[in-house]
Amino acid sequence: MKQYIQAEEWNIIEEGFDPHLNKISESIFSIGNGRMGHRANFEEQYSGETLQGNYMAGVYYPDKTRVGWWKNGYPEYFAKVLNAANWIGLHISIDGEELDLGHAKVTDFKRVLNMKEGYLERTFTAELNSGKQLKIKAKRFCSIADDEIAALHYQVLPLNFEGTISITSFTDGDVKNQDANYDEKFWDEVSALTENENTYLTLRTKKTAFEVCTATQTTLFKNEEAQLLSSASGAAQPKYISLTGEVFVKQGDCIDVYKVGAHISSMNYDKSELQMVSRAALDRASKKGFQQLLKEQAMAWLAKWEESDILIEGDVAAQQAIRFNIFQMNQTYTGKDARLNIGPKGFTGEKYGGSTYWDTEAYCIPFYLATAPAEVSKNLLIYRYKHLQKAIENAEKLGFNNGAALYPMVTMNGEECHNEWEITFEEIHRNGAIAFAIFNYIRYTGDQSYLQEYGLEVLIGIARFWRQRVNWSTDKNSFVMLGVTGPNEYENNINNNWYTNKLAAWCLKYAVEAAKMVQQATPELYQKIVQKTKLQEAEEFSDWINISDKMYYPYDQKEEVFLQQDGYLDKEQLLVSELPAEARPLNQKWSWDRILRSCFIKQADVLQGMYFFEEEFDLETLRRNFNFYESRTVHESSLSPCVHSILASRLNYGQKAYDFYLRTARLDLDDYNNDTEDGLHITSMAGTWMSIVEGFAGMRVSNNQLQFNPFVPQQWKSFSFNINFRGTTLNVRISAEEISIKNYAAEPLAIQVLEQAYLFPPGEKTINIKHADKVY
Ligand code: BGC
Repeated sequence: MKQYIQAEEWNIIEEGFDPHLNKISESIFSIGNGRMGHRANFEEQYSGETLQGNYMAGVYYPDKTRVGWWKNGYPEYFAKVLNAANWIGLHISIDGEELDLGHAKVTDFKRVLNMKEGYLERTFTAELNSGKQLKIKAKRFCSIADDEIAALHYQVLPLNFEGTISITSFTDGDVKNQDANYDEKFWDEVSALTENENTYLTLRTKKTAFEVCTATQTTLFKNEEAQLLSSASGAAQPKYISLTGEVFVKQGDCIDVYKVGAHISSMNYDKSELQMVSRAALDRASKKGFQQLLKEQAMAWLAKWEESDILIEGDVAAQQAIRFNIFQMNQTYTGKDARLNIGPKGFTGEKYGGSTYWDTEAYCIPFYLATAPAEVSKNLLIYRYKHLQKAIENAEKLGFNNGAALYPMVTMNGEECHNEWEITFEEIHRNGAIAFAIFNYIRYTGDQSYLQEYGLEVLIGIARFWRQRVNWSTDKNSFVMLGVTGPNEYENNINNNWYTNKLAAWCLKYAVEAAKMVQQATPELYQKIVQKTKLQEAEEFSDWINISDKMYYPYDQKEEVFLQQDGYLDKEQLLVSELPAEARPLNQKWSWDRILRSCFIKQADVLQGMYFFEEEFDLETLRRNFNFYESRTVHESSLSPCVHSILASRLNYGQKAYDFYLRTARLDLDDYNNDTEDGLHITSMAGTWMSIVEGFAGMRVSNNQLQFNPFVPQQWKSFSFNINFRGTTLNVRISAEEISIKNYAAEPLAIQVLEQAYLFPPGEKTINIKHADKVY
């Protein structure tokens, strides 16, 4: 854990330059706009430790799988998001001496991520070995108002010398992924072109043949007077393009470099048009200029904050943290393109390959449902519909048939990318999360159109998979599911994971219910789906219901808890509180064998199921299971604390709920797990939001109605948040005494507070909740 980020409500601030923290800061200060994103690498040369990272959403490379022992069914490739051309590059040298923070003496270093307006700023003074001192101010952003554009303003002030500054503005596409399986470079050059102050570098990915044109326009000013830039002389380097300007300066002069980057990919345009589209983007941006682009950025962020901000009174660190989480979620996914999704590291690192996991459906969708128009979450669901055929093929590879669909655990293009058999073949609960997200979307929005147009086909494929994946046990007189891995990846190849069985049984019933809903609402469409999927309604439905009704669920009579899997209690029963501090985190300190045999749990498993299906369990059942499993859980997945926080809130374990919340909220800002340098835990950031809105505020949607069961952590005076519910924007403010809901719509809205129904007319209405306990 490191605590060097200063707490401020709207800004993330690092003061002082510590090279040891640089990779962590590069992750924390990352910027993006849903279409692209960059780590907070320095613009100028840096010879110290750095992880270069520039990413274009959806542009991937299928890196050949590397495993020691091949197993039938393994994917051939691991599709990974690519490190793309670095467009921010500037070489700054004074009389031939290069500015490099790896060698210079750096003072007054300050890095600020302005979350309110969406830009990254860095200021410092550098003294070169020659004693020459410069003051630098750099500001850049990825525009969310025009998501093909990013812009940079870099200012140089000579402090104590006169001499010649040479500035080379470059785009470097000769980059590679650190996690490349065979140390290969994934890009080939298509063309490099310079036109006055514009450069165009077009690269093509090997195998996938995506083309990306990274175009820049650099303008250089001395004391606001434009200076000449020319193509760098010397031999052309491959996958690299640059422009150089030289200016004589003395103390008191001011050099401004403006650089606009247009990032245009063949995902959106014909390959023959990339340069033309880039030129148009640069023209568009240069007409506006940096300041205007920045203003538009601030306006666009203002609109995002109006939809999604959470205000916490009385705790600056918590306020900063939740805004950071919301900011990163909104930088990563904007919901404009149903081909894109949310990698666990977003645009902040290579780990997890930028691919899609069940994290999206289980954690991210609730955030976007409440903080963005319904189309945003709908696009995430359509993403899975687009991959349905691939999911059917994936299941076929494993021996399933009749349209059974097994969605991949990790994917970029619908194909499975993971190649650990215990995850690829066994962690099949992901199928359930995808079905649950469809249910969740309909429950929250009331919109059945996704189900009719796409979702029912997905549910049929998933139900068919579960139908074939279970088998009848004469011994147990029930259906069982053997050889699975639950969300707790610290157990593999187990039988009857309670969570997976529960989810499967639910999916089977929900698929039938969904079919009936579509049949009733749009009978013609329904018939088309029946034909397309060759659905044998009577036979398949009764089969699914029968399995669902006769599913086996392991249970322990003595502890009165659902058992995570058959035989869980055969393990030596220890508690996390008995583990010595040196043993943690287990995944770094213990052998895999020891972890597998221990009773310790990586992340919410039974409790994940109780979170999804909470209406089925009374509070005492939840309490027994929570007490039992929480004390055995090490939370070595960042997805774990938020589910525990929400359940702890429900159980009125206020302090526990708050402690779990803190673990997710500042996970990256304080580098809790010593891994922030690899990138941020983007998908668990949605969980932080859930801990507040579903946990502390107790927000639920049931029977088409919003409900709140609120409390305020003792450490806060109050908190408030904006949500969007079925076209109505609401501001909800909760203190220890009252809940106030501001209804921005013209119509009143019925909402339940602590199980009592109220009508909230347009405007604000306050209800006293002092001394009231949560009720469910
Ligand atoms: C977790 C998975 C998760 C993945 C990506 C793993 O550590 O166990 O549940 O999907 O990380 O976030």
